[in-house]
Amino acid sequence: MSERVQRSSADEWDQLLVGAHIATMRTGGRAYGELPDTALAIKGERIAWLGPTAEGRRLAANKNIDVQDLQGLWITPGLIDCHTHLVYGGNRVAEFEQRLCGVSYEDIARAGGGIQSTVRATRAASAAALQESALVRLRRLMAEGVTTIEIKSGYGLELSAERRLLEVARDLGERLPVSVRKTFLGLHSLPPEFAANRQEFVHRVSGPWLDALAAEGLVDAVDAFCENIAFSVEETRQLLAAAKTLGLAAHVHAGQLSDMGAAELAAQWGALSADHLEYLSASGARAMAAAGTVAVLLPTAYFTLRQTTPPPVALLREAGVQIAVATDCNPGTSPCSSLLTAMNMACTLFGLTPEEALSGATRNAARALGIQNDVGTIATGMRADLAFWRIERPAELAYGLGANPCVGVMYGGRLRGELLRTAAVVR
Ligand code: NIG
Ligand code: FE
Repeated sequence: MSERVQRSSADEWDQLLVGAHIATMRTGGRAYGELPDTALAIKGERIAWLGPTAEGRRLAANKNIDVQDLQGLWITPGLIDCHTHLVYGGNRVAEFEQRLCGVSYEDIARAGGGIQSTVRATRAASAAALQESALVRLRRLMAEGVTTIEIKSGYGLELSAERRLLEVARDLGERLPVSVRKTFLGLHSLPPEFAANRQEFVHRVSGPWLDALAAEGLVDAVDAFCENIAFSVEETRQLLAAAKTLGLAAHVHAGQLSDMGAAELAAQWGALSADHLEYLSASGARAMAAAGTVAVLLPTAYFTLRQTTPPPVALLREAGVQIAVATDCNPGTSPCSSLLTAMNMACTLFGLTPEEALSGATRNAARALGIQNDVGTIATGMRADLAFWRIERPAELAYGLGANPCVGVMYGGRLRGELLRTAAVVR
């Protein structure tokens, strides 16, 4: 009976991948969820079957199925960059120089630089210019196996400019095969025109602006920078409450520079993730664990700001908080478009194991975006978003600096990259 089911489904397979090491990143089995001697069948956009290689070959025999022998490559789920500010105008290289002369990130922000300087450049930029500069960064991420990316707005801070950022994010996903999740980071920084009227700004962001952007289908989730140089817990709460009313998910920039209780707030409102978390109390970690709020660690931002207090990883593990890793790609604190670099730094600076780093860029990143039933692990029924690597073992993905062992990427069953040239096509 079960064989008949398998045989009839094999009739519908388009592709069968054999001869690879598969790191499913599922929990409960071997390290990295490795499946030895396993073939992977794909039908359309989805993984249709995983099973013993010999069995797969037998089921695929004499059928119109592409069988590829990957000759020892590793397959992982496509990587997921679950926290980026990918779309922005200008850059902040002058601020980089200032910081190296001893001026702090906070001082630059208070003097009207920092996020505000990117807001000025972003408001002045056309959608086409924003898309062109973001494309460069996105292509770099994709070349490293990224198949899903979260992109935040937050450098417009007026309705029309926030809309433009979210539209550019959407269009990037239409132009390239990568999947895009769009986050309205309405509470990123108080724009100067509202300097005398914070309340009104928070009200507009959480009310009419969010309503309009959500109605236009531009918002998958909201986000707020809950920090003493940005927005208070109470202000952040207003946005989270509004998002909940609209049935939207939430993320919170929490504990990047100080512990204001933002992680507790994120947990209390059922946010998908609390991000940064260099400053996090035991009660914050416990609240996150209880709510299933994922901790998104951003080591390249920590590195860029030359911070010295890493997130309390032992506390997160002890509390049972799921840990994700992302680039935070942005012009100020993380001019980085390499998720592999973020994984490396998650290990070298924060003490994650290479397996935790890879889980953080696959399974837990999917969870941080609420899409864990679709992507982030390799299993039957999941989307065939896969990355192919010429490595000896998966720890190599976090080991290299500036190395890119990715030899191919598959987006929903469609392969891009040199893999086709390097793997033996059997049929
Ligand atoms: O995640 N912390 C707030 N937002 C960004 C930085 C934005 C900027 O400096 O432009 C971050 O680090
Ligand atoms: Fe960020």
